[in-house]
Amino acid sequence: MARLKLVVLISGRGSNLQALIDACAEPDFPAEISLIISNRADAGGLTRAETAGIATAVVPHGNYPDRETFDSALSATIADAGGELICLAGFMRVLTAGFVDQWRDRLINIHPSLLPAFRGLDTHARALAEGVRLTGCTVHYVRTEVDAGPIIVQAGVPVMPDDDEATLATRVLAAEHQCYPLAVRLIAEGRTSVHGESVTISGPTNCPNTLINPSL
Ligand code: GAR
Repeated sequence: MARLKLVVLISGRGSNLQALIDACAEPDFPAEISLIISNRADAGGLTRAETAGIATAVVPHGNYPDRETFDSALSATIADAGGELICLAGFMRVLTAGFVDQWRDRLINIHPSLLPAFRGLDTHARALAEGVRLTGCTVHYVRTEVDAGPIIVQAGVPVMPDDDEATLATRVLAAEHQCYPLAVRLIAEGRTSVHGESVTISGPTNCPNTLINPSL
């Protein structure tokens, strides 16, 4: 069976990109990365792409007069690469409604919280300030509202009493690196379908026990 062609969009260090690169290196993984696009020439993730021998493109947002023309350039680059699923992996630009609609249900994002809690930036600092016992990460289809859209995979991560932003971010990031390849696999295997604002997953999902924090 043909592998689903991914285009991964990054802005920074690219650790989630690395998780996808590693997953795609597995012989039975049902997707492959056709192109990695960064809006910043200095993104650390570009080095990961080069090490893995995957094509890269830099589309610098500063070269475009507005979001519409930047997004059009992105779209053309993705289409030229034959992209079938766009994975936002730490891509820190808000996308226009035109772009989101063009790629509807073929555009996914990872976010470091249990959405709909803590949309936006500084998720871990805000989770700590609110005193939540559980936080986590979410992979979701992208809609025009930022950090919103039908949820594909979530992982719950406990907040420990002595956590600071850095320790919590590290624990959540480890979960992100498991969730993103899983979400891509489910999509590439044709197991996800979007109904309104939620996603149905067909076949076995092997969900572990509920996480309670603190445990009894
Ligand atoms: C990740 O934690 C990702 O969830 C977050 O940016 C980080 C990128 O790290 N994305 C967002 O906050 C999007 N709203 P990475 O470059 O190492 O993958």
